[in-house]
Amino acid sequence: MTRHFITIEQQSTSDLDSIYDLACSAFDDETLKGQGVALVFERPSLRTRASSSTAVHELGGYATFFSDEEIGLGSRESAEDVGRTLAEMYSIAALRVRDHEVFGRIRRATAERMSLVNLLSDAAHPTQAVADVLTIAEHFAKGDVNGLAGLDVAYLGDATNVTRSLAVALLRLGVNVTVGAPAGYQLSEVGPESPSAVTDGGTLRLTESAEEAVKDVDVVYTDAWISMGYEDETAQRRIDLASFRVDGDLMKLAKKEAVLLHCLPAHRGDEITDAVLDGAQSLVWRQVFHRRSAMRGVLRWIKEEKP
Ligand code: CP
Ligand code: NVA
Repeated sequence: MTRHFITIEQQSTSDLDSIYDLACSAFDDETLKGQGVALVFERPSLRTRASSSTAVHELGGYATFFSDEEIGLGSRESAEDVGRTLAEMYSIAALRVRDHEVFGRIRRATAERMSLVNLLSDAAHPTQAVADVLTIAEHFAKGDVNGLAGLDVAYLGDATNVTRSLAVALLRLGVNVTVGAPAGYQLSEVGPESPSAVTDGGTLRLTESAEEAVKDVDVVYTDAWISMGYEDETAQRRIDLASFRVDGDLMKLAKKEAVLLHCLPAHRGDEITDAVLDGAQSLVWRQVFHRRSAMRGVLRWIKEEKP
């Protein structure tokens, strides 16, 4: 069966275990030898494009990049026809899309002939979540992702695509997740990559108080207040989210040895201060490092010999 990586929620526990394992274990350049991977970006990217391209190269393949201007998903051509075309040339397509439903449309149009990887949609950012789990495990459990149960992670600010995948991934590993966000920006429990789909694992708590969210936690995580596509709401979002800025005072409420994560790009002075992002508690550059590990894990899992 063709393997896809579209949300964390849709992966079985054993698939996720394999991905975490394959992300950090020894690899060679035979996995994708001579094979192309299509990288489609409907939105801007630095880390995701860089980590995808380098991971494909490390595994012996080559990446072809397609921008929104070239492809015009849904304007120049339908998502279905883009999928059908790519499936004639590639066995894997990794896409950053505006609308999560594009994945289902391409799967149906190509009759599951081509593996799809979600490089961020409006609903989920699962390759980021794999990198986040690897980063937290490296810091707190010598790399053992199954040694994280009982840890407390707080996410602050706008509950985004990043928040959803992060929450699902952590809850499934027994980590307790608190999301501190104002009304209107809180984690929604409906739709794809839903944290409420995790019935066995850590506990999920939602609060409107930034201080309550970070109290005594091990990890503080934040993301943009103005995600791609929400630029028109910039002024209002800055007002609504102002008390969720991660600054030194807020970090002091977390555990003394707590760490700070951010998926980047950072909007210094909005969701986070320079002092915290550049401070000793910040693990953001290990997160960036693990974006490539995560992508390797996903690609190796897709190509893995199935039992
Ligand atoms: N974190 C992340 O996905 O970064 P880019 O948008 O730069 O790829
Ligand atoms: N929530 C952000 C993540 C960027 C990596 C966005 O969707 O723009």
